[in-house]
Amino acid sequence: MKKILVFTGAGVSAESGIKTFRDYDGLWENYRIEDVATPEAWKKNPELVNQFYNERRKQLSSVQPNKAHHLIAELEKNFEVNVVTQNVDDLHERAGSKNIIHLHGELKKVRSTLASNLIYDWEGDLTFEDKCAKGSKMRPHIVWFGEYLNENYLFEARKLATQADYCIVIGTSMLVYPANEIPTFVKEDCTIFLVDPNANEIPFKTRNKLVRIAEKATDGMEKVMNMLNI
Ligand code: OAD
Repeated sequence: MKKILVFTGAGVSAESGIKTFRDYDGLWENYRIEDVATPEAWKKNPELVNQFYNERRKQLSSVQPNKAHHLIAELEKNFEVNVVTQNVDDLHERAGSKNIIHLHGELKKVRSTLASNLIYDWEGDLTFEDKCAKGSKMRPHIVWFGEYLNENYLFEARKLATQADYCIVIGTSMLVYPANEIPTFVKEDCTIFLVDPNANEIPFKTRNKLVRIAEKATDGMEKVMNMLNI
């Protein structure tokens, strides 16, 4: 079976009703990154940080995977598929994708502030009353600005990129390092599909065959499926 790496960002979930970060009216227009998504913010005002992620977690129960998530899952009928996502939502899981790496963490997990390997599945709000098994406060399981990504995930994502025959990049501005490097690790003969309404403006340096599809994720994924003869 041929291998596909699907690399996604906030845009793949936009049609489900989840805001992207950098578009007009995106999350980073309505919140300051420094206030809610940095270790300094957590030190200064952890209630606000918790509230920000509690709202995002709560929103997940009112949104559904869209056709793009479903088509990505459907690829598994014909290909060995790995999804590497920058998203912290669970819409790829709910659409049925099996192999998913969350580079930037997951809303539906929290972890101990004492031992970062104490990670818990989480529904509902996180409060300071909630303690880990060692009795410490817990924080959202999110990679904040200024924090390192999980090395194992990064290593695995790069490896999967080098093995892919096709790479589908969907709904990301490709501005956040080091995640944005993942699709550049593909081998020379790997065709890259770039699906994003802004596809023609997104910086993407590659010598590979690059197919820019300037469409929303749902329509763009249908085109990719056609191009792959599915
Ligand atoms: P951005 O908000 O930077 O980019 C979203 C991309 O989605 C843009 O290129 C849009 O053109 C595109 N887009 C908008 N609507 C779309 C649709 N219906 N279909 C397809 N694409 C659409 O989001 P990311 O690139 O994911 O990190 O941002 C990367 C990281 O920055 C995030 O993971 C987050 C953020 O700060 C953390 O929180 C750690």
